[in-house]
Amino acid sequence: MLYMKKADDIYILGIESSCDETAAAVVANGRHILSDVISSQIEIHRIYGGVVPEIASRNHVEMIDQVTSRALDSAGVTMADIDAVAVTYGAGLVGALLVGVSYAKAVAQAMRLPLLAVNHIEGHICANYLTYPDLEPPYTCLLTSGGHTAIVDVEGYNRYEVICSTVDDAVGEAFDKVARVLGLPYPGGPQIDKIAQSGKPIFKFASVVTSNGNFSYSGLKTAVINLMHTAQQRGEELAAADVAASFTAAAIDGLVDRLREEVNRRHIRTVAVAGGVGANTYLRMRLKEFENQGIRVCLPALSLCGDNAAMIASRGYYMYLNGDRADLMLNACPTLKLRGEKPHH
Ligand code: KG4
Ligand code: ZN
Repeated sequence: MLYMKKADDIYILGIESSCDETAAAVVANGRHILSDVISSQIEIHRIYGGVVPEIASRNHVEMIDQVTSRALDSAGVTMADIDAVAVTYGAGLVGALLVGVSYAKAVAQAMRLPLLAVNHIEGHICANYLTYPDLEPPYTCLLTSGGHTAIVDVEGYNRYEVICSTVDDAVGEAFDKVARVLGLPYPGGPQIDKIAQSGKPIFKFASVVTSNGNFSYSGLKTAVINLMHTAQQRGEELAAADVAASFTAAAIDGLVDRLREEVNRRHIRTVAVAGGVGANTYLRMRLKEFENQGIRVCLPALSLCGDNAAMIASRGYYMYLNGDRADLMLNACPTLKLRGEKPHH
């Protein structure tokens, strides 16, 4: 069924190329997905065991125009129906980001459309608006991606406050590194999720919550490596499923415990999750437990947890309403932080 554009509808074209997915999407009024096209490079990078930045950039260049055309076609619209172009400008791989930024600048300039510079992490948070059209701030979001781990108060559509965050590795990074140690293919997070289902969390690890209430994942990663090496030296073989289940419990329980502390202390009524690790089966199960306390739990659709352009378009919509505009000076910002994020000392 074709969605008929009404006079006051705002259609945003979203473009995403920060890592290894080339994506374009058309979203109406920040909430309604008209199209969501993702061209994944996972197969290309798998033989290297991780994303090779130069190869990622080159593939974005090859794919971005056709991915955008497909997004317009499957939404049943043309560029004439688009009100603004939203693009991820950070954080991410600089060469990969530049492809999307340059392309979006060219499209916006050619069509005389506003350009919206989206922070990728803020985009992940907006995946919740696409799954829950009635969700409005304030709520508290557990941000769990390959590059970020934090608890964020979403105070308004354009106002965030970071409550705590990781002092070293991100949780997704820890999943990927432990998967490598277990000999699982890239990207490791979904693989660990899969094998952990048949394992038992029999190995105990120290908490990932630091003494001042932040997170630390480098110790957990080392503890898993040590566990495996010690077993190897003794000539024992550990079941990968048990290691995966034990690691998953340690990686996730700390996040859930820390979130519960905030929920209880500040009487938070709504919690949400954002980022790739938000697809994790165990994390989703643990977060559902908050419902027993009468708390609303928002879990974005699995397809919207990983990188996509629909979430970028949704974020762009609220920037559009807020009058936030970028111009042709826009550059890629590989180390972009979330607004309200304080550096660790
Ligand atoms: O948010 P995302 O797609 O990219 C960044 O913005 O970083 O997150 C990717 C991360 C990877 O580390 C990947 O292994 C992890 O999310 N991931 C998962 C699962 N699916 C993706 N980790 C655990 N369980 C999953 N099911
Ligand atoms: Zn991401």
